[in-house]
Amino acid sequence: MSAQRFYTLLKTRLDAGEWTPGQRLPSIRKLVDDTGSSYHQVVSAYARLVSEGVLVALPGSGYFVAPRTQALASQAEPECMAGDALFNFLQGGPHYTKLGCGWLPSSWTDTDLLTKAIRRTARLEQHSLVEYGDISGYLPLRKQLCAHIKRLTRLDTRPGQILTTLGATHALDLIARLLIKPGDTVLVDEPCNGNLIRLLRLNGAQVIGIRRTADGPDLAELESQLARQPVRAFFCNSTFHNPTGGTITANNAFNVLRLAVKHDVIIVEDDVYGDFSPSARHTFAELDNLERVIYVGSFSKCLSASLRVGYIACPPALVEPLTRLKLLTCVAVPAFCERFVNTILADGTYAGHMKQLRQKLIEQQNKTQRVLKSRGWQFEIAPESGMFVWAEHPDIADQQGFIQRLAQHDILLLPGSVFAVERNYQAFLRINCTHFSTQVAQHFQV
Ligand SMILES: Cc1ncc(COP(=O)(O)O)c(C=O)c1O
Repeated sequence: MSAQRFYTLLKTRLDAGEWTPGQRLPSIRKLVDDTGSSYHQVVSAYARLVSEGVLVALPGSGYFVAPRTQALASQAEPECMAGDALFNFLQGGPHYTKLGCGWLPSSWTDTDLLTKAIRRTARLEQHSLVEYGDISGYLPLRKQLCAHIKRLTRLDTRPGQILTTLGATHALDLIARLLIKPGDTVLVDEPCNGNLIRLLRLNGAQVIGIRRTADGPDLAELESQLARQPVRAFFCNSTFHNPTGGTITANNAFNVLRLAVKHDVIIVEDDVYGDFSPSARHTFAELDNLERVIYVGSFSKCLSASLRVGYIACPPALVEPLTRLKLLTCVAVPAFCERFVNTILADGTYAGHMKQLRQKLIEQQNKTQRVLKSRGWQFEIAPESGMFVWAEHPDIADQQGFIQRLAQHDILLLPGSVFAVERNYQAFLRINCTHFSTQVAQHFQV
């Protein structure tokens, strides 16, 4: 009998419940005698079942069927999360420089100013410290968000079109749950936010990547995919795109929207980096007046990822079903966080913070590009601002080796494959300019 065959037989007996959780299995010697298998076959089957979480080995006592929770945990990991580099990256401790991350360094935010606003909010809105928030979102905040969206996109919205969410991740999750039926085809930018690809797959979508060019989504590729099959939605990160840093041009936005109308596709515009823009730009939301566009924003990137305040602006008919899904998945956004964001939008604290931030981002993006270029790094898209630059080096054959070398200096990067649907981005790295310093730069000499 082969080792594989022996493993399969043992697993079948375990699955059939011959031994119950916590029960000890026969010793290796007894199993060798009873089954006529070799010592090696039994040992390797036991080792494999331990690595799969089916058995636990207690030194000196033998092998036991794992408690039900442990077996569940190993089965519950969705296939699309297996070996997820982002998951491991996020578990890295605070002493690392997370150069591959998607957020600003905390030193870039005036936390004293925010602390004062938090105190003010707590004094005036004490009940928000204990009560559930409004399931649609705090009405004064939704009114502020209409003004905020108007400034970001020139688009007029009403509070009845706005739903607050736990950051953009929750917004994208609610939209995916509402739109996608298992087997539906959904388009995303490629490369793109790896979490989104996994989230869509978790909802049963067939995810197809549309190559991101310097102008936005590749129009020829988009047209050919739309002609090939019915498509439910296109999730597009329009400004300072994660991970390339690119922003859609007016012409590109117009043509993407034209194709979406022709093929009856919904555009989910993820604009979490929109407020970094120092000047007017183009959004699908403005062009379409929120008829087939669902617009997603968040305060995670500009202000604080810890607040978990994001929002959806959408056609009025979608608000109620999205609110029902929100009720099921989180009930409400923390009432205190909503009131805090409302306070700083209303009193000008947020506007002052953003003015400084935009200036710093431009300087840091320019500096990072200059240093990387002088060291032979190349990038197809040279963003004028925003956090990211998507770079490769012609002399680095082994990106994994480069990432590991930097990790030895406590600098963490994510492999380009994290952002891929199907294409090979083995040679690319997403570099967050806001974490790029002279000290980090010395390791980029190849
Ligand atoms: C394009 C994009 N959308 C959404 C998110 C998630 O944002 P939030 O922290 O508000 O959930 C990220 C985070 O990295 C992102 O890059």
